[in-house]
Formats: sequence, C-alpha cells, structure tokens
Amino acid sequence: MANVKDNIESLRSKIRKHEYQYYVLGEPLIADFEFDQLYKSLEKLEQENPNLITPDSPTQRIGSDLTKEFRTIRHKVSMLSLSNTYNEDELIAFDNRIKENVDSPEEVSYVVELKIDGVSASLIYEDGKLKTAVTRGDGVSGEEITNNVKTIKSVPLSISENKWKAIDLYQFEVRGEIFMEIDAFQEYNSEREKRGEKTFANPRNSTAGTIKMQDPKIVAERPLDIFTYYLIADSRNIQTHSESLELLAELGFKVNKNYKLCNNINEVVDYCNFWENERVKLPYETDGVVIKVNSLDQQSELGTIAKSPRWAVAYKFKPKQATTRIKDIRWQVGRTGAVTPVADLEPVLLAGSTISHATLHNMDEIRRKDIRLNDKVIIEKGGDVIPKIVKVIDEERNEFSQKLQPPKVCPVCSSKLFQPDGEVAIYCQNPNCRAQIKGNLEHFSSRGAMDIEGMGKAIIDQFVELELLKNIADIYNLKTKRDELISIERLGEKSVDNLLNAIEESKNKSFEKVLFALGIRYIGAGVAQKLSDSFKNIDEIINADEEKVTSIHDIGQSVFYSLRQYFSIDQNLDLIKKLKLAGLNFESSKVEKSGSKLDGLKFVITGTLPTLSREEAKSLIESNGGSVVTTVSKNTNLLLAGEKAGSKLSKAEKLGINIIDESGLFKMIQND
Ligand code: IVH
Repeated sequence: MANVKDNIESLRSKIRKHEYQYYVLGEPLIADFEFDQLYKSLEKLEQENPNLITPDSPTQRIGSDLTKEFRTIRHKVSMLSLSNTYNEDELIAFDNRIKENVDSPEEVSYVVELKIDGVSASLIYEDGKLKTAVTRGDGVSGEEITNNVKTIKSVPLSISENKWKAIDLYQFEVRGEIFMEIDAFQEYNSEREKRGEKTFANPRNSTAGTIKMQDPKIVAERPLDIFTYYLIADSRNIQTHSESLELLAELGFKVNKNYKLCNNINEVVDYCNFWENERVKLPYETDGVVIKVNSLDQQSELGTIAKSPRWAVAYKFKPKQATTRIKDIRWQVGRTGAVTPVADLEPVLLAGSTISHATLHNMDEIRRKDIRLNDKVIIEKGGDVIPKIVKVIDEERNEFSQKLQPPKVCPVCSSKLFQPDGEVAIYCQNPNCRAQIKGNLEHFSSRGAMDIEGMGKAIIDQFVELELLKNIADIYNLKTKRDELISIERLGEKSVDNLLNAIEESKNKSFEKVLFALGIRYIGAGVAQKLSDSFKNIDEIINADEEKVTSIHDIGQSVFYSLRQYFSIDQNLDLIKKLKLAGLNFESSKVEKSGSKLDGLKFVITGTLPTLSREEAKSLIESNGGSVVTTVSKNTNLLLAGEKAGSKLSKAEKLGINIIDESGLFKMIQND
C-alpha cells in the first residue's frame, strides 16, 4: 500500500511541476501527450485507491458539485481600492504626499506594476494548501469561489513543503487579478456567438461572468488565468513589496514579469509613458499602472485613508480613442429579424487595428448622443471588442450633418417593421426576408452546427442572390444543380464537388446538432443537447407539453414558448419535412439506444438516495424513457423516495401514488 501511495505522490509532484512549467512560466518541458499520460496514470491509481485522493491532487481541480449558493466570507484584511491619477502632475503630487508623511523621505522607492483589467480575488493558503478563494465583493466581504478558482491551472493547489516551511508561512493570503487573454477570449466569444448565445463585450465581463458560475466543469473549459500581485503574511523575511513578488514567484504563483523597481518618481513617470503606448502589444487587457511604495514599514507608516491605501495609487491609461467621420449609417437585419444601426466610418487606426465600423445599438442610443450622418466623432476601444462612438465633436458639425430617422420598412425586403411593446429593438417579421435567410443559412452551416466546410458568408450571399437557396432545406438540393454551380464565376469544378461532398457529409450530424442548426430562438447548443437527451425524436419535441419541456433540468418556459411558436408556423414544419426527406438526423441516438422500460412514466424524486445523486437518478429515469417532474400531482406515476423524504412523501401517500426506493428503481430497469 505504501508503495501505491508513494507512486501517487510522485506522479502528483511531477504533474504539479509540469503544470507550473506550462501554465505559470509558459515553458513546457514535455509534450502534451506525455503530460496526458502522467495525468491518466494518476487518475487510474486514484480510481483504484479512492481513499488516497486528496483535495490538492491535480485531478481534483474540477469538482462535480454545483455551487448552489455562493457563501459570503469576510476578508481578514479589507480589499481596498486605489485612488486614480491621470497625468504626470498628479503622479508628482502623489510622490510629494508620500515624502511628507514618512520619516525617511530619501529612502522612498516604488514598485510599478501593470494594472490588469480583470476581476480581483483573494486566495487563502493553510499549511501550503489552497483553502479558500473569495471575490473582492464590497471590499469588506466577498463570495466564496474556491471550486471555480481551483480550475485555473496557474493557481497552485499546494505548495511544496520545503518552500513554505523554511520561512514559517503556515498561513498566508495571496491577492491577484483573474483575467482572460484577449485571443482566448475572442475565440471563446465567437464560439458563443455560433452557438447562438449572448456574447461578452470584453474579457473582463466574460471573466466576471465565468467566475460566478455554478458549475465548475464549465468554468474549467473557459480560458481563465491569474496574475498575483500581493502577499499578506506574517513573515519577518519579507520587508519590501518587491521581495513579496519574488517570493510569490518562488512559491509557484504567476507574477507578471513587467514590474519594475523605481528609485524616484521620474522613473515611475517614464514607466507609465512607456506602457501607455506599448500596452496594445500585450496579450491581455490592462487599464493602467499600479504604483506601490516598496518598503512595507513605510507602507504601514503611511496607512490608509477611507477605502484606499495612502501608499499606493493607480495611474489610468487614456482610453484608446480616435477621431473619424460617419460616412453612412446602415440598418442591418440579423438572423432573428432584429434591425440594428451600424455606422460606416472613414477608416482609422485604433489600438493596432483599422476600424471602419461601429455599432450604434439602437435608436435610443443615437438620440441620446445626438449622432448624425457626416458627424465627426470620437470613437473609443475600451476593453470592448467592437468600438463605440463616445461622442460627437459638436464644433465640427456642418451643414452636411443629417439627422437619422428609424426605418419604417425592412431595408432588405421592404416589409413593415415591428416594435414589440417595451422594447427598443425593431424587427423585420418577414420569414422570407433575404437577410434573415442568409443569417439562417450562415448559422445552419457554421462550425458548431452542421459544419459545412466551404459554405461561408460569401458563397451564401451569392447563392441567395441567385435564388439557388431560399431556405436551409435547399442546401440539400444543390447537388441537382451541379452544372449551374460550376458555371458560376470563380467556382471551379473542384470547389463545387468539395462543397457538395461537405453537404452530403453533414447528413451524419447528430440530432442535437440539427436541432441547434435550425436556429430556433433560445435553442443554443446546450439546450439542443438537453432536448436531444430527453426526447426520442423531433416529433416528440413538436408534441411535447409545457410540463415535459420545463421538467428538463435548466430548461425554462422561454424555451417551451419559443419551440411552440416555431412549430406553429407551417413553413417551419414543411422545412423539417424536407430536411427529413433529405436524410438529416431527427432521431436521438441517446434516448433510442437505452431502454424504454419506464416509457411514459412520470417520476418525482424526494429525499436522499443511498447511492445515486438526484441528477444521476434523473438521467437514469430519462434514459429509460421516463420523465422527472418536480411536484407531486395526480398525474405522477411514481415517487422515488430516499431518506428524509418530507411533504412530497405524505402528499404521494394521500394521492395513492406508488412509492419506490432506489433498489425498486434498479429493479424496474434491470434487463431480464
Ligand atoms: S494592488 C491596496 N496591483 O486594481 C492594493 N491591484 O483599484 C490594491 N489591479 O481591486 C491592489 N492589477 O482589482 C493591485 N498589479 C495590481 C493590479 C491591481 C489590477 C486591480 C485590483 C484592484 C484594483 C485597484
């Protein structure tokens, strides 16, 4: 046994070392494959010896429990905010204030660091192990996010004993900024867009949303990272902030390398000016510089006023702005029919890329900022991906500037537009509108959906204009028009055949992909997956009642109403008929393959079951054709009751409903 334990520990320390090399230093020593082998060996040994699993094992980064409620935790030391400075004069004033308030002004030096634009968090370690992670909250107390922070691979779950014991660091707190790299964020955001989910405006919002998610498995899939910048510890070994940073790095934390020790305020100013320009080259978003007095003694001498320390200040970068002119304002029709204004700009260079469009969101925004055609405007790219118009330069307004009227008819199909009560958005309601057709075709063919290689925006535009495609079902008719396609300019025989092959191949896509590809409102990839797990085929979904749909975990009324609306339109039913005929998959492989022993039976689950979790019991019932609802009624067929069953049990007894326990359920589904 001791041998297995040693093996496990040795694998863990190898894995920890390689995680550190890869995620903290960015200098992997082995190939991904080799790392996976180590990880799998550890997983196997732990599975065989579950008693040897410890919470700090690299396999335990991703927990399976959902966080139902985020516990509030009071910070031992308040998480302060910083006061801001915006220019050289204010930095010099800060330096003067410091010098006036310390005993030895000649000894003041500063550490300057980049101010990372993310979400701050506090990590508490005890005996070298990560115990708790907490959000900043209101600075006094925050919310516990330990399970989510554990998924960040650059966060050490444990620190090697020889490192912390040597300096008596039995308990310490590390603060840092959780963030997403810009590229990783953009990739993640475009995946969301393809799945029909709402996109985030910038990496910070996306990080803030992710860190508060209930399911650590989902958090683990998101590209979160952390830079640590503050160590709180009772250790006589640390006398300066720069020593803290060095120590953090030595303990295995990720510290941003761009910090600098400055001996006077002029060096600080130079650092700020340097990064004001250079920051566009960084792979993550920064919004300024943090300037900290280096000596910890001087820090405590200076103390805190209100909510900010006197010993530190932020220098805020100027937002990335540029001036340009609005050449045109177009109204764009999206896949859902929403008509939104987009400004065409005279191309201008901003934060490293050429900008020629800006979103205007809606008419309210245009009125509020009094934006007119031909106006000179200031555009800004904060953390946002798409630049926005900050304001109009009033002094440059001339006789060519022109007020904008919202369109009354669709700019593409000329049908009358509709504005739902209480919404600022306006919609084109014509399902045959070319813009919507194109949007639907693009979504249908996109990577997360039917993934038809070669069926991109440009081809779709062309095919719709040539009336080769009027709806998604027409895609599967294209093979009858091969000659016509080949005669289209720029489309050779080879690319046409490749496209037709890709179309044929798409017929193998699973039911859930097809369901998502239809582009029904609220049916993103996740919802499509759940529907295809719970229903045998499309006809079951078309005929499902509200109870059946909303009894699926995490699926609410809006999905049901959206499905009902979609299937109430004959044209959509006709489309599905055509797609079925073309050979697309409208049957769920998952539900079909498993049994149907519980076909049509409605269960309610109550109490704690001896071996199954609620979720497991539910999916077991569902995969055998049954369904699980939340409330006991006369329509309930069976109550699956565990220990500490409460009012549901007595209600079921009153209504004369069959009551079974977990072993009863196993009996019902076992194969004879
Ligand atoms: S030091 C008292 N250092 O900026 C020390 N903060 O308003 C306070 N931030 O809440 C924090 N990068 O979220 C510090 N290198 C850095 C930082 C940093 C980003 C954030 C942090 C804090 C806010 C200060």
